[in-house]
Amino acid sequence: MYRSHNCGELRMSNEGQVVQLSGWVQKSRDLGGMTFVDLRDRYGITQLVFNMDDNEELCEKARKLGREFVVHAEGKVSERSNKNPNRPTGNIEIIVSKLEVLNAAKTPPFTIEEETDGGDDLRMKYRYLDIRRDAVKNNIIFRSKLALETRKYLDSQDFVEVETPFLIKSTPEGARDFVVPSRLNPGQFYALPQSPQTFKQILMVGGMDKYFQIVKCFRDEDLRADRQPEFTQIDCEMSFVTIDDILNTFEGLTKHLFKHTLDVDLPDFPRMDYDEALKRFGSDKPDLRFGMEFQELNDLAQNKGFSVFDSSELVVGICAEGIADSYSNKDMKKLTEWMQRPQIGAKGLVYVKFLQDGSIKSTVGKFFDDDTLRTWGEKFGAKPGDVLFILSGEAEKTRKQLNELRLEMGRRLGLMKDGDFKPLWVIDFPLLEWDEESERFHAMHHPFTSPKKEDVDRMLNGDHETMKSLKADAYDLVINGAEIGGGSIRIHDRELQSKNFDLLGFSKEEAEEQFGFLMGAFEYGAPPHGGIAFGFDRLCAVMNGQSSIRDFIAFPKNNQGRDMMIDAPSPVDQTQLDDLNLKLGEIETAE
Ligand code: AMO
Repeated sequence: MYRSHNCGELRMSNEGQVVQLSGWVQKSRDLGGMTFVDLRDRYGITQLVFNMDDNEELCEKARKLGREFVVHAEGKVSERSNKNPNRPTGNIEIIVSKLEVLNAAKTPPFTIEEETDGGDDLRMKYRYLDIRRDAVKNNIIFRSKLALETRKYLDSQDFVEVETPFLIKSTPEGARDFVVPSRLNPGQFYALPQSPQTFKQILMVGGMDKYFQIVKCFRDEDLRADRQPEFTQIDCEMSFVTIDDILNTFEGLTKHLFKHTLDVDLPDFPRMDYDEALKRFGSDKPDLRFGMEFQELNDLAQNKGFSVFDSSELVVGICAEGIADSYSNKDMKKLTEWMQRPQIGAKGLVYVKFLQDGSIKSTVGKFFDDDTLRTWGEKFGAKPGDVLFILSGEAEKTRKQLNELRLEMGRRLGLMKDGDFKPLWVIDFPLLEWDEESERFHAMHHPFTSPKKEDVDRMLNGDHETMKSLKADAYDLVINGAEIGGGSIRIHDRELQSKNFDLLGFSKEEAEEQFGFLMGAFEYGAPPHGGIAFGFDRLCAVMNGQSSIRDFIAFPKNNQGRDMMIDAPSPVDQTQLDDLNLKLGEIETAE
């Protein structure tokens, strides 16, 4: 027998029992006459004790144990004289009578502790060691629980889990496809799905009514902390539904998940128009854990002789509370330089300090008298001690820049509190986005998204400018400033779908070639339908107050899209390429 108990479960009530434990050596301390070993497994840590006076040979054996050795021990549960209140097993220890080394271990390349000294790539190369750390292990266990609760809730709502294929044709959803050559069809390729979008719609045409899948998706895009090339969605679709039906169902799912994994009761989710979100927060995924809302100052700040403001489409600011007296000129200069970095690209940063003593200090004090500056302060509800930060320029750009500043000030002022969850539905997205560079419309969500009912006529008959103002039945779920999910009511009519492809620059032939199957299906009785997909990795991270999704994925890729452990991607044999009828030309490799 390897074990009668695990390393996390023994308590004082087990005192006197002879038990068997197996696990890894976390730490061993040799105090001469006594040796203490912390034995660790998934469930916890239990202290083993070896006493020189009782059994010299056994004690010598224990002294030789290295970190991460795998051992089996038999011994008696005994009350500890020196208790450890920080550990559930901290009241007991095991007086060991038998010790067996099941496997020796090399010294690990980084410490397997809460805070490790291992860099990202090293931790990923030795992922099996990293997974032994509580921080990663607990994330992966959390993920498992979240998936289980997702299935429980969706099952209770009559959803059917259906697997859709991984070897498909590309669906244009904004990223590049990963392609897979077909041996049986020389010169032809599958694509890995960026999402199961078209399949779930076809399932609705098939009468499945409510579908879900916890599914891998693949996108060949630039990686960031919240993006992996393969990631997981909770993907869902429903028939005969309105936006309200969908939002209510998935608000229900989100509340269920928070309640049953974190024991957090979420309030009803507010809803905000896309346009309103941009106006108030400069972002379609505002972090509502704090206010610092935008106020527009065009009426109060223009035509008063400051040409920078006068020539701007938008003058807009935020109010940061309580820092007027503590932020020095140097701090302000640094913040301005931070805003001027190419990533943000602000030309400058205007500030107005309302100091505690009632005086006002501003970079634009030369152009505006104190009374005028006070009217600005009033608009923000500024108090003594507060600072207004003001940007001006082209409206869309300026709002984006101010959003960055708002988030930075939120971070600096500690306003993004852990354990505080602020969900939000952002609704009424534009249907199409005009791209100046390619002179083309792009689908703001994806090409299968329906315009709002009241905009269908304008879409079918309107001119180019009209298309820019069409609104979609599309929505995002945002929690604490992260886009957790997105979806829409779909087009279920061939003519309208065709028109959308046309607007998106597809020729009739291209649309038919790529999506003929879907438009064909629409002619055989497609029900009105809609759905949503949650980013499962992101949901895990946000629920745990983390910004990176990597440590919620057992085997993630690094920023170059590499799996450091198995060293993929890698070249393949010429014979394998021959089988696939692939000839490689000159290839520029990373080296
Ligand atoms: P969308 O493209 O918005 O919608 O994706 C849904 C959610 O998936 C998450 N996500 C990602 N997570 C990690 N890494 C990535 N590279 C990544 N890309 C997206 C986000 C996002 O909100 N088929 C539609 C859904 C629908 O219309 O029903 C879709 O895929 O959290």
